[in-house]
Amino acid sequence: MQEFYASPDQKALVDAARAARLQSYSPYSHFKVGAAIVTREGEIFTGCNIESVSFSPTNCAERTALFKAVSEGKREFSMIAIVGALEGRPLTFCPPCGVCRQVIREFCDPATFQILLSSEDYLTRSYSLEELLPEGFGPENLV
Ligand code: THU
Repeated sequence: MQEFYASPDQKALVDAARAARLQSYSPYSHFKVGAAIVTREGEIFTGCNIESVSFSPTNCAERTALFKAVSEGKREFSMIAIVGALEGRPLTFCPPCGVCRQVIREFCDPATFQILLSSEDYLTRSYSLEELLPEGFGPENLV
């Protein structure tokens, strides 16, 4: 893990996640999350969390962003920025849930894919996917 203030490029990705967070549909938890994933070519796809009254169909912001990108034909990614907090509170570091880590593993290289968690003042923590999902089960285990 590395901790730093976001560079201009990283800040652009974090700002895209912040903008996506404004669309969060979270009437049950009131915890609003935004994510922005960037393809290897530099295209950004964003997502927010979308909750369900029956709870389990809830989709996290990270998966919303990734699924939007994959459904547009993208398969290679370099980085995701994630921001989250309870409504009305300052942004805190919001780590991706286990399900999202596994879904990210489907499409992203564990050693090089970067996960940025950014707080209210743009203090940012950066992890490789490998750090957050060590010894993960991936597509290559099935061949
Ligand atoms: N959530 C995300 O969208 N991403 C995360 O990384 C953690 C949790 C959402 C799911 C649910 O809508 C709310 O935050 C509270 O768990």
